[in-house]
Amino acid sequence: MDKRIQVQISAEKIAARVAELGKQIAADYAGKEIVLVGVLKGSFIFMADLARAIELPEVRVEFLGVQSYGDETTSSGVVQITFDLTKPIEGKHIIIVEDIVDTGLTMDYLLDQMRTRHPASVKLCALLHKPSRMKKPCTIDYLGFTIPDLFVIGYGLDYAQKFRNLPYIGVLGE
Ligand code: IMP
Ligand code: MG
Repeated sequence: MDKRIQVQISAEKIAARVAELGKQIAADYAGKEIVLVGVLKGSFIFMADLARAIELPEVRVEFLGVQSYGDETTSSGVVQITFDLTKPIEGKHIIIVEDIVDTGLTMDYLLDQMRTRHPASVKLCALLHKPSRMKKPCTIDYLGFTIPDLFVIGYGLDYAQKFRNLPYIGVLGE
């Protein structure tokens, strides 16, 4: 293992929490069709595990690409959709699947964007949340873990596009 990386949340802990979130979502949406909307790139691993943890007969999967301008570790709140959904979501029950809600600026923009498309409902599922940095509060309906104000990597999250492939959530040291 890379000695510069300190494990914050182990692969086992993530798996246990994702299983719980999947059960909760399946119970809340019993009898309904849902569309999971993964926010690329950070959510790709979480999305893959979460989708398999939701035991419902009608689960669709879509992705959105977003680019949030800012430096490497903070977003500016100026968000652009770089890759859009492949199907309309009007009348559908949507769950946005995000890696981390930090300032909340990206989610604030995306939730507004999704609502203009008239889905039946929109909820947010985020693996991680850093409440101390929240600028635009948004409700996280399904949350994996609350973390302190540290820049984390792994399980889909990157630093300069690297480390997304780590199976755990870690912090990069000096
Ligand atoms: P927000 O708009 O500040 O909430 O930031 C959202 C996006 O910034 C997330 O979807 C991540 O892609 C990225 N981000 C925020 N904090 C971290 C972190 O600790 N590690 C990796 N990416 C992060
Ligand atoms: Mg992201």
